[in-house]
Amino acid sequence: MLKITKLTRKFGPNTAVDAVSFTVEKPMMIGIIGRSGAGKSTLLRMVNRLTDATEGKIEFEGRDVTALKGDAKRAWQSDCAMIFQQFNLVPRMDVVSNVLHGTLNRRSTLATMFNLYPQADICRAIEILDRLGIAEHAPKRAEALSGGQQQRVAIARALMQDPRIVLADEPIASLDPMNAQLVMDDLRRIHEEDGRTVIANLHTLDTARRYCDRVIGMLHGRIVFDGTPEQLTTGAARDIYGADAGFSETSTSTSIETLERAGVRAMRTAEAAI
Ligand SMILES: Nc1ncnc2c1ncn2[C@@H]1O[C@H](COP(=O)(O)OP(=O)(O)OP(=O)(O)O)[C@@H](O)[C@H]1O
Ligand SMILES: [Mg+2]
Repeated sequence: MLKITKLTRKFGPNTAVDAVSFTVEKPMMIGIIGRSGAGKSTLLRMVNRLTDATEGKIEFEGRDVTALKGDAKRAWQSDCAMIFQQFNLVPRMDVVSNVLHGTLNRRSTLATMFNLYPQADICRAIEILDRLGIAEHAPKRAEALSGGQQQRVAIARALMQDPRIVLADEPIASLDPMNAQLVMDDLRRIHEEDGRTVIANLHTLDTARRYCDRVIGMLHGRIVFDGTPEQLTTGAARDIYGADAGFSETSTSTSIETLERAGVRAMRTAEAAI
């Protein structure tokens, strides 16, 4: 399906991504982990063609993605939708229009200028919002929503493109644990129910272990681990984060599990009170 071969990106003397190769044979959910500056964002941006590779190749179903230009490049960018840490919505625009922006790549400039959307697209946008449990917010301005809701709008916008691959760059880094869990659950569903490949840069080990079928670890621009969550032992994780990183499992853990434990505790307290 997706084949990355010796993909490299240099910024001046600095090599951000260094001869990275991996293959995705079938739709799956992949987590990319690594220290700050390891090259995770640059890798995703190259796959989406937001950043050009210095060397190497990206192929999708036999087609050379690295060589695409103009309309073909835009079509590819539709096929692999990107989700960002900061949601990248238009804050003053209503939610449904933000979602409809996901169809921009296949609409005329004039239709876009006058905010003209086909009825069928509007219905689909609302269906997608409904699927993500946020349809009631459709008429509100994006800025009126919580971070977690905004990220789900961004996911809806991505789904509007009907992408084969969803690339998510630290999708939960700005969210509280409860919303982080909701967003990760949505990404997992998008993979399982729709058969889309999800590749997410994650800054925490436990999220990668919990949600992903496969984890890729990067260090200094290179892949230093590629395996299942079970293979991602504490030792392997230490190698990914670098022996000198003062590594500890807890320092890279989100509080999803802590939250669950807190939830259980709260329930017990409530039960005890009854
Ligand atoms: N546009 C750019 N110009 C110059 N250097 C860049 C640029 N983008 C990234 N880099 C450098 O490339 C390296 C990899 O950066 P990248 O953002 O891909 O890392 P990352 O793993 O996503 O880090 P983080 O976890 O902090 O998001 C870093 O050394 C960074 O400074
Ligand atoms: Mg990054």
